[in-house]
Amino acid sequence: PPTLAELAQRHGRYFGSATDNPELTDTAYTKLLGTEFDMITPGNGMKWYATEPQQGVFDWTNGDQIVNLARRNHQQIRAHTLVWHSQLPDWLTSRDWTATELRAVLKKHIQTEVRHYRGKVYSWDVVNEAFNEDGSYRETLWYKTLGPGYIADALRWAHQADPHARLYLNDYNIEGLGAKSDAYYALAQQLRAAGVPLDGIGFQAHLALQYGYPSTLEDNLRRFSRLGLDTALTEVDVRMQLPATDEKLAEQAAWYADLTKACLAVRHCVGITVWDWTDKYSWIPAFFPGEGAALPWDETFAPKPAYFALRTAL
Ligand code: XIL
Repeated sequence: PPTLAELAQRHGRYFGSATDNPELTDTAYTKLLGTEFDMITPGNGMKWYATEPQQGVFDWTNGDQIVNLARRNHQQIRAHTLVWHSQLPDWLTSRDWTATELRAVLKKHIQTEVRHYRGKVYSWDVVNEAFNEDGSYRETLWYKTLGPGYIADALRWAHQADPHARLYLNDYNIEGLGAKSDAYYALAQQLRAAGVPLDGIGFQAHLALQYGYPSTLEDNLRRFSRLGLDTALTEVDVRMQLPATDEKLAEQAAWYADLTKACLAVRHCVGITVWDWTDKYSWIPAFFPGEGAALPWDETFAPKPAYFALRTAL
């Protein structure tokens, strides 16, 4: 059968998966990772704690391992992520910074990392999770010290370091219309009007059966598309309260199909990435106790109804 990547390519889209360094020793895992997908996201390897563990000391080991693997498999990279409030190294969070100091730290981090991967990545999630649920700015280290202008600065610095990488803002709970996605819509309009290099918005799409399907997804993607921006579903998983039942797996499959159809229906929705492909390596059970079974293949790598639904929808 054709792979998900091949099916997506027929629509001019990609179909990707996140992966993480520890699981790359599992050869049955890397075999499917290397064949079924045409876009790869390092789940952790390019985050700040991994890439600049001491100030000014950069470590590309984990990111490079995934970039090299993807390259051998003729896959592109959605790089993730430069500016975030989470998974920061201690040296950055355990002291106070003046705005001048922190601006220099941020600029150096972005420019060094983006330059290192220049020409090797399709896109960067430049800023991750900048807004609260009500659409106000999240009170992160970056926002509190530098003010909202850190976002435009980060995009400009990244663009200088790799003019060909597609630059994204990325967040969760912005799949449907609402206060948080409105905040991105307003910010995107402002940034575009100011000539800031923003190419796309990433919709993480960490969905959960118990919260309902975001039925305004397609309309929401379309309004960003109309601003001239790319959109992408960047971290898809559909979790459920365990145990999984046939009913829940069928509903999950319908959600995977629906989100795929939504992306295909919107011009400039460039592709879909699942946040890893097998329940064996999903982040969900560790972060949402009692929940799981969120991905299209189960822990034994057997395809679930969600996988067959993806194939039908693509
Ligand atoms: C998760 C990783 O999958 C985990 O391994 C890690 O412990 C925590 O972060 N939103 C994001 C991703 O943008 O970076 C997060 O990845 C999941 C939520």
